[in-house]
Amino acid sequence: MVNFLIFGPPGSGKGTQSVRLAEKFNLKHLSTGDMLRAEIAAGTHLGKKMSSIMSKGELVPDEVVIEMIAAKIDSTKGCAGFLFDGFPRTVAQTIALEKMLNVRNMKIDSLLVLDVDHDELVKRLVIRAELSGRPDDKDPDVIENRIDVYKEKTEPIIDYCRKKGIYQPVDGMGGIDDIFTRLSDKMKKLM
Ligand code: AP5
Ligand code: MG
Repeated sequence: MVNFLIFGPPGSGKGTQSVRLAEKFNLKHLSTGDMLRAEIAAGTHLGKKMSSIMSKGELVPDEVVIEMIAAKIDSTKGCAGFLFDGFPRTVAQTIALEKMLNVRNMKIDSLLVLDVDHDELVKRLVIRAELSGRPDDKDPDVIENRIDVYKEKTEPIIDYCRKKGIYQPVDGMGGIDDIFTRLSDKMKKLM
């Protein structure tokens, strides 16, 4: 099993690229954002509790996403590995993921970080707001808050992973196909 984290700020293309990479490399794509939105859509108790946090662009509690991911890891069979998208988001989540993988004889093999300019992030999310129905795309202040939360709480994961020698930066500017080729080339070498 080979496990990748696809990483980057809101709008950097994690979801877009993950869907294609998961298919190409037979990886299980796990997006905590998608899982949380599914809870909201299903009207569950958890979804109701999390929706106001998400609509402000804040992070939901670590325990909530750690539990979701653990359940998915145990129920997934027949893939070459996992592609984690939007998880982990804090160093505490990263340590929890490492422990979860270690006890199952796995590890985080690589952190692939999409580098995208601030203005391009905002542009992409404003365009998506027209179609997505995501409350966190609708308000420019919430978009900025998501980017700030990324810088403050999520970006420290890069240093943590750099020290472990698993940090892989990827240019996330340009066309979707070109970025896919850059990511695929890196992943091929690591598989
Ligand atoms: P989450 O769903 O993870 O959202 P996010 O990180 O804000 O990122 P996005 O999904 O908006 O962006 P993306 O990088 O996936 O880009 P995408 O491919 O969609 O999290 C949402 C919320 O859930 C969080 O704020 C938090 O509240 C909660 N949450 C989730 N996980 C959590 C966790 N682990 N811990 C705590 N809380 C958690 O692309 C964006 C747009 O750009 C799309 O329209 C796409 O078509 C377009 N696009 C993509 N690539 C290109 C390109 N190259 N050129 C032009 N357009 C492009
Ligand atoms: Mg996403």
